[in-house]
Amino acid sequence: MAWENTLGDQLVHENHQNIAETQLIQYFNLVIKSARGSIVTDVEGKKYIDLLGSDSAMNIGHNHPKVVEAMKKQIDNFIGYDAGYFTNPVSVKLGARLAALAPGNGRGKVAYGTSGSDATEALIKFSRAATGRSYIVSYEGAYHGSTYGALTAGACDVDMIRKIGPLLPNVVHVPYPNLYRRHPGESEHDVAVRYFEAFKRPFDTYLPVEETAGVIMEPIQGDSGIIIPPREYVQLVYNFCHDHGIMFAVDEINQGLGRTGTFWSYQHFGITPDLLATGKSLACALPMSAVLGSAEIMDSLKTSAYVFTAGGNPVVAAAALATLDVIDSEDLVHKSAVDGEYAKQQFQKLADKYDCIGDIRVLGLNGGIELVKDRQTKEPDPEAAAKIIYRAFQKGVIMVKLHGNVLRFQPPLTISRQLLDRAFEILDEVFNDFEHDRIELPEELIHEGW
Ligand SMILES: Cc1ncc(COP(=O)(O)O)c(C=O)c1O
Repeated sequence: MAWENTLGDQLVHENHQNIAETQLIQYFNLVIKSARGSIVTDVEGKKYIDLLGSDSAMNIGHNHPKVVEAMKKQIDNFIGYDAGYFTNPVSVKLGARLAALAPGNGRGKVAYGTSGSDATEALIKFSRAATGRSYIVSYEGAYHGSTYGALTAGACDVDMIRKIGPLLPNVVHVPYPNLYRRHPGESEHDVAVRYFEAFKRPFDTYLPVEETAGVIMEPIQGDSGIIIPPREYVQLVYNFCHDHGIMFAVDEINQGLGRTGTFWSYQHFGITPDLLATGKSLACALPMSAVLGSAEIMDSLKTSAYVFTAGGNPVVAAAALATLDVIDSEDLVHKSAVDGEYAKQQFQKLADKYDCIGDIRVLGLNGGIELVKDRQTKEPDPEAAAKIIYRAFQKGVIMVKLHGNVLRFQPPLTISRQLLDRAFEILDEVFNDFEHDRIELPEELIHEGW
């Protein structure tokens, strides 16, 4: 089976001629002409329900009118000026707003960046500067971005680090707890304790605790399949950090800003991190990230150790301010929690009908639906995931997969119940097609995604 040679196919082909392969993640040939709310329209005018939300970078929906208006207003004033040299009213206002969102009750400060990747660099830099130590502990399965520090802290796809080493020194990876793949008979408590033992092992053997600067954790691991760790585990690691003067730094780039039904995902775990990185939805997928922490930690670096020409850009800052306003005024954190519960029930109904669904991990409008060949053995079924997202695309639903066999569910938090219901009706048809072996993948898609 081959492509149909639509305008979308042609544009994707042209794109492949000019864009470096490393920047292309092949799923299916969707070329977007416009997008509003939770609907994306392609270059041929076909409409799709967006269950990906630009990989969790569009929490308030596409082209929210308040964001568009705020940006236009700022563009009429001026587009940009390096805010490191001379600031502007919009960036100042956003700075105050973000500093107030820093974890903890004391005075917070913010450092702007332009991507989630550079925000991870900042987590490493501030952890080292604030403690005067060098080692960083992070997690197997983590995705933190693709600059050198972020790549070193991450560990979710070996292709990401092929041919480019050496990476950053003094970064150690520990396993991330996985409740679905627990040992037979293990309780959630047992899993928490087993993984905490694994976390401590390096400190007993080769990692001097007094030289450890920070632990960087996604409180819910996103790109490895929306993996939700035991609350007890997060608390054990957090307490260990505090007992040993280690910074506990969270990456909220994917899971923050209401995605999980709380404003930040760490709030599910009863802890208060020292450092927090946000990005993606902060300015509706425009280039902005921010690292938040106490004034003391954030002032540990000297001038120019972490500064960017476009950091805090006023047009992007206007978008971020409007985004934060919309999250509040449309009560999106609460909506995410309520609609997430509803979505979880709908996935459960699908699981009652279709055996390929092995695990449903949904918290807020945020889900990983793990597909398996057999519920007993839990053997992953990446082919099922590839076929299901392809047929969903054909039927007008955008969904991709994570870690090979996990369907990724991250629609805009503004999605209506009506659209959600329609998406689940389509998914029902799609799973039905899969179970009856009615989905044929184009050859180009057999090894798609990552
Ligand atoms: C958890 C997490 N951290 C960091 C990043 C990197 O962000 P960016 O692609 O903006 O550099 C991502 C991007 O997917 C992410 O999901």
